[in-house]
Amino acid sequence: MQQLSVVILAAGKGKRMASDLPKVLHPLGGKPLLAHVLATAGDLEATARLVVHGHGGEQVKTLFIHERGVQWVEQAEQLGTGHAVAQALPLLDAAGVTLVLYGDVPLIRAETLRPLVAAAQQGKLALLTVELADPGGYGRIVRNPQGQVCRIVEEKDATAEERCLREINTGILAVATTKLRGWVAQLNNNNAQGEYYLTDVVTLAVRDGVMIEAFTVAEPEQVLGVNDRGQLAQLERFHQRRQAERLMREGATLLDPARVDVRGTLTTGKDVVIDVNVVFEGTVRLGDRVRIGSCCVLRDAIIGDDVEILSHCRIEGAEVGAGSQIGPFARLRPGSLLAAGVHIGNFVETKKTRIGLGSKVNHLTYLGDAEIGAEVNVGAGTITCNYDGAKKHQTVIGDRAFIGSNSSLVAPVRIGKGATVGAGSSVSRDVPDGGLCLTRAPRRDIANWRRPVKPKKG
Ligand code: UD1
Ligand code: CA
Repeated sequence: MQQLSVVILAAGKGKRMASDLPKVLHPLGGKPLLAHVLATAGDLEATARLVVHGHGGEQVKTLFIHERGVQWVEQAEQLGTGHAVAQALPLLDAAGVTLVLYGDVPLIRAETLRPLVAAAQQGKLALLTVELADPGGYGRIVRNPQGQVCRIVEEKDATAEERCLREINTGILAVATTKLRGWVAQLNNNNAQGEYYLTDVVTLAVRDGVMIEAFTVAEPEQVLGVNDRGQLAQLERFHQRRQAERLMREGATLLDPARVDVRGTLTTGKDVVIDVNVVFEGTVRLGDRVRIGSCCVLRDAIIGDDVEILSHCRIEGAEVGAGSQIGPFARLRPGSLLAAGVHIGNFVETKKTRIGLGSKVNHLTYLGDAEIGAEVNVGAGTITCNYDGAKKHQTVIGDRAFIGSNSSLVAPVRIGKGATVGAGSSVSRDVPDGGLCLTRAPRRDIANWRRPVKPKKG
């Protein structure tokens, strides 16, 4: 195997995005455009990945600081795609082949690129082309009467006849690095745009008798670039359709594949059912037979087998044990760790809280910084008062305890195993195992009580 260097062109300003964020940092499927391209280069096991950046370079570099094995090259002035590649060439290992990709063409797949790399390894110049009904704006592939590629002509330099050609240049090419070096050094900017065109290497390859092989990509979306937010939205939809199709292939039922968004990595077990308008972010794992109601957001979560999540829940940084039932309208915040068979009902919020086997928290409750045993029943309106204005404190509730409705558990506090807290209590001292704690104010009754009356208006 020869070395593979991937050069990613990303120096464009992206003016049409009308944004302060560099174009290649705009997210698609929850990840910056450039991250998709770097990942594809990774899938190809590239030995080197170079990003040619310009405007906003520092911001881009900072975001990818933890990405290993990426080299950054600045192209201070944008003098064309050929000039951009020239900036990277001195850093490339001469022994291998170079593949040119684009930071704003995010959905290209490794499988599409492999044949190009193989052709380059056989000494050819490999181009990726696509047939478009409307080729406007793109460089056209010009072939000779024998059907061999002989030139790429940019729209602005093309004759009326050439503009009718529908096979266009995607810009993606692969070739031996030494050949590319030789050709790029010979490029000039005698053209309509006064730029150094990378596409002119085709003419130089013909001159040098190097075989050119054009590969056509069947899915145009793979080679579409993002120039404005409309195109970004279009590619986002395409990416989401891809994810939805994958999920269905893997055994998930999507009630409407057009209304589920995966902004990260989602893995699903068998016979999962996902209702409409569910958003997955970060890394989410769903077990077998998980059912998710409409309008839920799950972010960085692990959901066990047979869990049912009813509509309108937000679950983030949480683990839900098998057979649990969550929602509707529940919020599990980071550090919520639920054992099997737990019930969390409507308007319940949990944070940094462990809940044991079979415990129930069915309505209107906040549990923060808590450790809750098995078979506990937390009544409606229970609040762990975990924050004293300066520090967070822990609440511990033992197995089989029963917390009456509308209780405040003022942390740090411990409710013993099998203990009972009477409804409406404010508990600020520990309750021993098996005990009852009741802090209700004594009741007063006054018969025939007359409420104050408003004076009658004159
Ligand atoms: C280029 C191709 C054209 C092809 C089209 C596909 C050339 C001369 N033309 O045209 O045949 O159909 O892409 O989209 O190559 N860039 C730099 N530095 C530069 C110039 C560009 O990094 O100096 C980067 C841009 O950020 C962008 C990419 O290269 O990602 C393409 O540049 P762009 O100016 O959009 O090229 P086109 O004129 O569209
Ligand atoms: Ca372009």
